[in-house]
Amino acid sequence: MDAVEELRDVLPLTAAVNGAGHLAIGGCDAVALAQRFGTPLYVFDEETLRHMCRAFRQEFSARHPDVQVVYACKAYIGRALAALLMEEGLGADVVSGGELAFLASVGFPPEGIYFHGNNKSESELREALAYGVGQVVADNFHELGLLSRLAAEAGRRQRLLLRLSPGVDPHTHAKTATGVLDSKFGFPIATGQAEEAVRRALASPSLELVGFHFHLGSPIFELDPYRQAIAMVLAFAAEMRERHGLELRELSVGGGFAAQYLPQEPPPPVAEYAEAIVLSLREGCRRHGLPLPRLSVEPGRAIVARAGVALYTVGAWKDVPGVRRYVSVDGGMADNIRPALYGARYSALVANRPLDGRRERVTVAGKFCESGDVLLWDAELPPLEPGDVLAVPAAGAYAPAMASNYNAALRPAIVFVRDGQARLVRRRERYDDLLRCELWPPE
Ligand code: LLP
Repeated sequence: MDAVEELRDVLPLTAAVNGAGHLAIGGCDAVALAQRFGTPLYVFDEETLRHMCRAFRQEFSARHPDVQVVYACKAYIGRALAALLMEEGLGADVVSGGELAFLASVGFPPEGIYFHGNNKSESELREALAYGVGQVVADNFHELGLLSRLAAEAGRRQRLLLRLSPGVDPHTHAKTATGVLDSKFGFPIATGQAEEAVRRALASPSLELVGFHFHLGSPIFELDPYRQAIAMVLAFAAEMRERHGLELRELSVGGGFAAQYLPQEPPPPVAEYAEAIVLSLREGCRRHGLPLPRLSVEPGRAIVARAGVALYTVGAWKDVPGVRRYVSVDGGMADNIRPALYGARYSALVANRPLDGRRERVTVAGKFCESGDVLLWDAELPPLEPGDVLAVPAAGAYAPAMASNYNAALRPAIVFVRDGQARLVRRRERYDDLLRCELWPPE
């Protein structure tokens, strides 16, 4: 089996071996893309992006009458992606004024925007109010007070969801588990703070409390955490109706939908998440006699991970006899910190020789000055030569988004590919970008 077949479920939908015997994505030769735009290069396949947007809309809408699919911009946002999301009819969740600026720059409809974050600043909240952001998701008492005042000053009644901390463990990496009791996010139900937040929100004339939000963690390969959290939040909603007359009009179950990084680790299909979530919602509403609320879901990773392939050029190597062979590429932790930070695992293939069936064990290192800068430990790949183009699939989520200028690295270029056309949507940084904010002599 060739490498493209082996990695079929991890690569973008359009991945193929072309007539030149190279990896092709969106009808574009990956080796030619590397030559034309340089490496490291992030290539996004538009067909896969659109397919995932539609999968979420269709699978949830087929099961529930009122669904809002809200893309979590933190997984990756750029202007081209923002425009594509608009075309696909998705909403968007932002966690900063900066993410909002990306959306605003393409005229993203404000009604579909959800503003999250555990420490939104006064200026960020003002920006959100000025843009007319549809929903603010309040995370703590400080923010409730601040937003209530700012909305009143702006003469607005701001739609609001409360972020609840349901105390459910999603069995994911400790750094990305958020719905547990000991977390910086959200109002815990168990401690009575969530009820206090409901009381305060209902008492504010400038806030319109429409519902609740929770986010459990990321990625979540299991369905049960969603079921448990929905049951808990609906029981809480029923209590709040009884005690405070709150009508639950919207429930946001956050994101966390897993993506496939390795051929042997498939996540549940979108349909299974949709089925589990909608059934739990219906069952809970029936049990408590609640009308069905609008359901919103916030996929980030699942929309962009598979669409994105990182391309690197192979350079130096080092053999440690009897231990391992290191081969270094021209990127690493500055463009993808996930392996170093979370121990995240990826697969790889040689874009200029995907049909080469030879395999040898190699550790693919990045070029940054840290021993932990390794992209793949113990990969099985054809013998690598300097100049080879190494493709790392499933790199679309949280890689460019978390990229840094560590070691004064230039953040990579990003291209969108479709039907044999490649469009540069972000140029590679240059040295003058690194120097632009530096003041010498100081002002
Ligand atoms: N909604 C909220 C409120 C969130 O906090 C997140 C992710 C999402 C939605 C989207 O989750 P997704 O569908 O992408 O799993 N940097 C980490 C992931 C951090 C996720 C933070 N919150 C990583 O690289 O794995």
